[in-house]
Amino acid sequence: MKTLTFDNGDTLPMLGLGTWKSEPGEVYKAVKSAIEAGYRHIDCAHIYGNEDEIGKALNDVFAAGTVTREELWITSKLWNSDHAPEDVQPALETTLRNLQLEYLDLYLMHWPVALKPGVPFPKSADDMVSLKELPVETTWAAMEALVDNNLTRQIGVSNFSVKKLQDLIGKARYKPAMNQIELHPYLQQKEMLAFCQQQGIHLTAYSPLGSFDRPAGLKAEDEPVLLEDPVIREIADHHGASPAQVLISWALHRNTVVIPKSVNPERLKQNLAAAELSLSDADMDAIGALDKHRRYVDGGFWAQPGSDYTLANLWDE
Ligand code: A2P
Repeated sequence: MKTLTFDNGDTLPMLGLGTWKSEPGEVYKAVKSAIEAGYRHIDCAHIYGNEDEIGKALNDVFAAGTVTREELWITSKLWNSDHAPEDVQPALETTLRNLQLEYLDLYLMHWPVALKPGVPFPKSADDMVSLKELPVETTWAAMEALVDNNLTRQIGVSNFSVKKLQDLIGKARYKPAMNQIELHPYLQQKEMLAFCQQQGIHLTAYSPLGSFDRPAGLKAEDEPVLLEDPVIREIADHHGASPAQVLISWALHRNTVVIPKSVNPERLKQNLAAAELSLSDADMDAIGALDKHRRYVDGGFWAQPGSDYTLANLWDE
């Protein structure tokens, strides 16, 4: 398994298991099967509503001796309603309690968006807090203290644009170690890749398979289905692989971390085996030509009328 090395020597297995949309009732089995199959990296978040069940699976694999805590890489994310500095450490402690862990490997600011305490998703502008009032650098400073307090090994961000990364770097004591963003052949974000490489910031690709299982409210009627793309399918057929394996391998060939979600034991194994699939330069060129700048997770739910948030200022494009 390809790994990434951080400045302090920590190593992250580049293929991990995504748990967004893995429902309580199915995520226990998924995480346990994944670790038994050889996954060593699990991507979690408080807002996914399933961390307590993931915690049970972790506890059980440790108790069974399948793996030790040190052999696993666990990421989680600070939800938008906990951006006030005094709420940051308690939010992480809740996540640690749910996951039954003493520390995280990586804690990410989930979105550059602040919500009022206790609000999971905004129904109107009243539920939101302007970044002028509660800037991301204020939240970030509280996250830096989590590293000092040994509650997480690394900190990073998610859904940040190049501009927001630049602004934050200028004000931060610790540079973000990671930006987790939507990345796949229809949203290749080449400028972001170049910027992060130059800055030594790692990237994680979320929705690498196109997240076809996301809620209907987040889907457009005419959206292209990534797993059915004819070019991806042709490359898959040529290698005797599946389209999902081509998408995962493509992400690894770009040196990005990738976190495909599955709750199906066969697909979990298939996805892990994608780490062994080697794509040719011609394959990479053919996939490189598929970019459509298509966001499956466009952040539209933050653009509440009357708030400071718009899609233009969320993505800075
Ligand atoms: P399932 O969990 O039933 O396997 P993403 O990682 O982009 O969010 O995509 C997750 C979606 O892709 C889920 O619907 C998941 O279904 C499905 N999926 C995961 N692995 C594969 C695979 N190897 N082949 C086809 N679909 C897959």
